[in-house]
Amino acid sequence: MGAPSPASYSACFLSGFLLAAALPSLGTDACPSIAWIPFQKSCYALLQGSSEVYGMDDARELCRGNASGADIITINSKDENTFIQNNFHSNWHGPEYISLGMFFDTDDDIFKWYDDSKVNFTNWIEEESNNELLNTCATMHTASGGWKKVSCEHLPLTKILCEATVLYEKTRFFETAWTSIIVVLSTITVAVSAAFLWFLYQRRISSRPRCSTHNSITQIPHDNETFFIDEVEYSA
Ligand SMILES: *[C@@H]1O[C@H](CO)[C@@H](O)[C@H](O)[C@H]1NC(C)=O
Ligand SMILES: *[C@@H]1O[C@H](CO)[C@@H](O)[C@H](O)[C@H]1NC(C)=O
Repeated sequence: MGAPSPASYSACFLSGFLLAAALPSLGTDACPSIAWIPFQKSCYALLQGSSEVYGMDDARELCRGNASGADIITINSKDENTFIQNNFHSNWHGPEYISLGMFFDTDDDIFKWYDDSKVNFTNWIEEESNNELLNTCATMHTASGGWKKVSCEHLPLTKILCEATVLYEKTRFFETAWTSIIVVLSTITVAVSAAFLWFLYQRRISSRPRCSTHNSITQIPHDNETFFIDEVEYSA
């Protein structure tokens, strides 16, 4: 009776297997796919443009299409700028220029990032000019990391540098973790129920003879008692 049943063995094995399958997804780095390279709180991917990528909106759409929450690159620090420049040198061997996710807002007379983050770092490599900045965007010269202004009609779009924030990754991470936990808990519930049913089944089989003996034993005094009561009743 004490030996574990085949059912509880296989249930144990199954939950162990699911746990082993779930754990790596909790530990691996948090970028959307191997196309993305992590740095500080973001992931970066250089995606191939296409004949359908005509402008900034299409470029941003391309980023979003590869990973939800991703957008065209914004650069907020010297470290980030250097990281990107180094990656073009060592990894991406990219085009000479890439588009930055910024535009000149003529209402406020300043450059703004499309994702609304504060422009607290710039790396312009050209003199301030008095040129009209209406419809002006920005590019990065990938070899030097320097930024140049360009007409928004002439953005380099052969390759699009995209950035996904870690916040998006965290959400995905917890979704994965919760799914794993729910799967493991359901498996354990099924295993425990199966083991319990097996236990009941085994108990029923092994105690059936004892059960009938027990019944006949209790039956006898009961009969006697009835007899006795009957007798008392008779004698009364
Ligand atoms: C994202 O881009 C990479 C690199 O171009 C590509 O291999 C991958 O299939 C893309 N993923 C999606 C979901 O578009
Ligand atoms: C620059 O701005 C970004 C986004 O607003 C912020 O995350 C970053 O910490 C800022 N960096 C500095 C050096 O202020």
